[in-house]
Amino acid sequence: MVNKSLIPNLSIIVAVADNNAIGKDNDLLCHISDDLRHFKQVTSGHSVIMGRNTWNSLPRRPLPRRRNIVLTHDVSFSDEGAEVAHSINNVFDMIADEEETFIMGGAAVYAQFLPFVSKLYVTRIYKSFEADVFFPTIDLSMFNVVSESELFHDSESDVDFRYFEYERTKHMLKCGCNVLKYN
Ligand SMILES: NC(=O)c1ccc[n+]([C@@H]2O[C@H](COP(=O)([O-])OP(=O)(O)OC[C@H]3O[C@@H](n4cnc5c(N)ncnc54)[C@H](OP(=O)(O)O)[C@@H]3O)[C@@H](O)[C@H]2O)c1
Repeated sequence: MVNKSLIPNLSIIVAVADNNAIGKDNDLLCHISDDLRHFKQVTSGHSVIMGRNTWNSLPRRPLPRRRNIVLTHDVSFSDEGAEVAHSINNVFDMIADEEETFIMGGAAVYAQFLPFVSKLYVTRIYKSFEADVFFPTIDLSMFNVVSESELFHDSESDVDFRYFEYERTKHMLKCGCNVLKYN
């Protein structure tokens, strides 16, 4: 059983399409090179937490200059460069002393950690995609926008996108509430 409230050093990083889609056939919906650079820049030097499917989807693994923590129920799983966790409590223990840790997907993992994260780094892709995995709907009144980038265009994927950073509202951070309202 998980007995935790908000974790100040825990963040989500995700690229989300208009219809909340995040992936299809265990791959990303589109490959935006600027967003991949952004992901690298934000997460480098930190731990990244991912589910086993996302780990398997990486073209190159482990992600360099990051501690790669992979969630799986499979106790026999091991892979070079992966630190294995078998539960979310396991993850909380592993990251307790870290400055900032990033939940990097996929859908199953975002959904479980969302109630505990204090910050969201969201790349909004202004297009809907056919998909088989989706980001949970969030009540954004629980978050403040900390920063919002200009609008960018990726010519290869032909999509517009923008970077957002959200932080839990001060009130929630202060009381350590972990009550998230889903629409
Ligand atoms: N747009 C984005 O920013 C973004 C980011 C990342 C991923 N994605 C996409 O998301 C998709 C993959 O997501 P997904 O939801 O299918 O899979 P996932 O979340 O990457 O991995 C799911 C697996 O993680 C393990 N797991 C999850 N919770 C666990 C827990 N509490 N304890 C132990 N193990 C746990 C289980 O592995 P076992 O079955 O081995 O037990 C589970 O089957 C891909 O399409 C990928 O490209 C998109």
